[in-house]
Amino acid sequence: MGITFEVTDKDIGGRIGKLKVGDRVLPTPAILPVINPHVPLVTPAEMARMGARGIITNAYIISRSAEFRQRALIEGLHSLYDFDGVIMTDSGSFQLSVYGDIRITNRETVEFQKAVGSDIFVPLDIPTPPDADRDRTRSELAVTMERLREAREIFGDEAPIAGPVQGGMYPDIRTEAGSAVSDAGFLFCPIGAVVPLMESYRYADLVDVVMAAKKGLSPAACVHLFGAGHPSMFALAVAMGCDVFDSAAYALYAREGRYLTAHGSYHLEELTTFPCPCEVCRSMTPHAMMKSGDRERLLARHNLHVTFAEIDRIHQAIVDGTLYDLVDERCRSHPMLLRGYRQFLKYGKTLETADRVSKRRFFYRGSESCLRTEVLRYQESLTRFPENNRILVSFDRGEAKGFDAVYFFKPPFGPYPQEMSETFPIGQSEIPDWDEEMVRSGCRGITILAKTHPSSEVTVRCEPRWVSIVTAECPGMKVMSP
Ligand code: GUN
Ligand code: ZN
Repeated sequence: MGITFEVTDKDIGGRIGKLKVGDRVLPTPAILPVINPHVPLVTPAEMARMGARGIITNAYIISRSAEFRQRALIEGLHSLYDFDGVIMTDSGSFQLSVYGDIRITNRETVEFQKAVGSDIFVPLDIPTPPDADRDRTRSELAVTMERLREAREIFGDEAPIAGPVQGGMYPDIRTEAGSAVSDAGFLFCPIGAVVPLMESYRYADLVDVVMAAKKGLSPAACVHLFGAGHPSMFALAVAMGCDVFDSAAYALYAREGRYLTAHGSYHLEELTTFPCPCEVCRSMTPHAMMKSGDRERLLARHNLHVTFAEIDRIHQAIVDGTLYDLVDERCRSHPMLLRGYRQFLKYGKTLETADRVSKRRFFYRGSESCLRTEVLRYQESLTRFPENNRILVSFDRGEAKGFDAVYFFKPPFGPYPQEMSETFPIGQSEIPDWDEEMVRSGCRGITILAKTHPSSEVTVRCEPRWVSIVTAECPGMKVMSP
């Protein structure tokens, strides 16, 4: 296909990459702001100056527009929008899911998208609503897959066609859909029909849907999360392995007088000062913005700045290996996001295989940190420690006589030998005063060590305050208190 995707950095399931479509390059993670040609709150040329490398627009709306249809066909979208970055077009499927019926066929929309010079075009997939039963979900997926095949038949394997992943709320069908799309050779794969989940804050369900789709998709696929959304959820979505977002939120929120921040939004009236360094917010007060006839446009500009800044922050976090800190921070701004984060952590075993080996640091941020991939991977490494007859795991640094091996203890990881005290994650992890959760997690490490070393006798030495936890978490082990 005329699309390539190259990953250069990773953190958890998140990636920094380069999506190439023809001669154009989109660095990822990327946000494609949605452009409605009829309501140009911020023009694509202005967006380019603000940092946009790509935009998305709706081919169906353009194809039905007396004003823009002919111009788009004659000049092409890049000239119409005065934008030289990546222009993705959507097919009208979203209108289909909202209005139930649209007057365009799959062939018509993809041929139109090609004719207006779109860089990435989308077939007329069917966004199956979350309440659909299995039969409906399956039969709609079959129609979607047939339309992807039809698009490939019309344009050939080299055409930059997106392969949407549908499958409703059924993880097995989502996984199947992901495999089918990857097997068919699609490299740019949007995960569809998630807008209703995000609109109702169902982030835990969103995590299940995305993780199921990712399980089926090739790791080489560039993954787009259709219709996301609010910048507070980008970090979580990137951590799952989403690379591209498209968002109308900057404009929809502006229309309602709402001010975006990376951890939630405000109504303009609620703000006495602007907590933002962007040019708009530095140039006026909330009161002045409220009174301005240009209010919607100014808010949209601010909302876009915030959205781009969050994407840049995620980039830096991936480079540093600190994406967990950002996800943790963002997900604490709403209880439903925290639910999503906790659901995400249940996929530790899967995420562990993708995550990088070494990071700049590990900050303990509460009990959720015990389920991070670094902890799981460290505890998995305990299975490869050498056999020894008598092993002491010591919570303190006191003397130990009569043992063949002495390990120290660092929660939430577990036992470690002196030689590993400087290596990741033991040496780079910063933890506050020990709490029960992290000690319990560390004890799981001791148990893994004992279970995988059946000929070793493991003794734990700890202060009296930890004895009951150690006894409960490490059944059958000898526990000593100094
Ligand atoms: N925009 C938001 N969700 C969807 C989807 O599922 N499919 C398409 N084509 N566009 C969308
Ligand atoms: Zn601002």
